[in-house]
Amino acid sequence: MSFLEIAGVRKSFGPTTVVQNFDLSVERGEFISFLGPSGCGKTTMLRIVAGFERPSAGTVRIDGEDVTDLAPNARRIGMVFQAYALFPNMNVGDNVAFGLKIAGMGRAEREARVDEMLKLIGLPHVRDRYPYQLSGGQQQRVALARAIAPKPRVLLLDEPLSALDAKIRVSLREEIRELQRALGITTIFVTHDQEEALSMSDRIVVMSDGRMEQVGTPFEIYNRPRSRFVASFVGTLSLLEGRAEIGGRVAVAGQEIEAETPGARPGDTVTLALRPEALSLVPSAERRNQLTGEIADVAFLGSVVRIRARFAANELLIDTFNDPASPPPSRGQPVTVHFSPDDIQCLDAATGASHRPTSQRQALDLRAVEPV
Ligand SMILES: Nc1ncnc2c1ncn2[C@@H]1O[C@H](COP(=O)(O)OP(=O)(O)OP(=O)(O)O)[C@@H](O)[C@H]1O
Ligand SMILES: [Mg+2]
Repeated sequence: MSFLEIAGVRKSFGPTTVVQNFDLSVERGEFISFLGPSGCGKTTMLRIVAGFERPSAGTVRIDGEDVTDLAPNARRIGMVFQAYALFPNMNVGDNVAFGLKIAGMGRAEREARVDEMLKLIGLPHVRDRYPYQLSGGQQQRVALARAIAPKPRVLLLDEPLSALDAKIRVSLREEIRELQRALGITTIFVTHDQEEALSMSDRIVVMSDGRMEQVGTPFEIYNRPRSRFVASFVGTLSLLEGRAEIGGRVAVAGQEIEAETPGARPGDTVTLALRPEALSLVPSAERRNQLTGEIADVAFLGSVVRIRARFAANELLIDTFNDPASPPPSRGQPVTVHFSPDDIQCLDAATGASHRPTSQRQALDLRAVEPV
């Protein structure tokens, strides 16, 4: 049995079901993200694990113990919320000591633990300050220290970085992950930011509309999305509409490319999906496909230059690395993009199935997913 077991959980508020068929086993020390759009049920699921919400069906077990009916304070769980939830009338030291006091820890031990925690988050000097005297990033660090001080069995983080500016967000996510690894604490991190989920997690649970769409490592989720929803929500994806022809060929925008389209008959309309990094302006032996069109837009993002190219009614996004020696192409210029047939994902509109190239093919089911 895994350290944290969520089995058959459903949650309804009145007639509305907001989480259903939620089954997840989390190993000790694992860092899991719940990733999904606003309203898909991430916070609700986290609150069920924390004990603030009771599931309408199903169970939650921690370390073999059924905690479904336990009050939050009896579960030994630490939680950090999106909005800074420090007690405004207590200084940092008292905030961090709060859970320890409730747990009945003696004064001397408590003081030592607070010192240790503040050192751990790199803020040993703010002990006597009040929350209003801290920056947003510092407040979230203190909230983290307060959550982990009582040595919880599971750490739950509900979008703890979303109120912070971009730079702090990136550095703090690295800090959180480092701390989590060092302490070996089993963690669930809620976010709607795919980059956060991809960069931090051991595994990601992609959620949509109260359902688990896919569970997998960041690599699996990004490279082998099992539904159209996951493919489009995680990362960027361009879609090409084409017509299947004989012999593994597809007509796109009056040109012909090589693509596997399992299940499609000649004449069928097919949708092909491509990631921006799979496309190149440079030909190579593997990149057997090419399409010629026109540059519609160029976005200079720093290390990456994202090019939008138009091919009749189709558009593709192409990511290229910045090269200081050669400026990017300009709008309106003709362009030829090159890509490998292996990088094409065929999303078959007719049957709702999605197909990976042979090397990565697996059973996919997109029937329940609305088109993007
Ligand atoms: N106490 C409640 N009573 C009724 N409906 C609720 C309650 N709590 C949540 N919901 C509904 O459940 C759904 C899921 O909400 P939840 O807060 O879990 O979403 P979320 O994925 O965390 O979204 P966000 O990214 O915006 O925080 C929403 O439609 C919400 O309105
Ligand atoms: Mg939420």
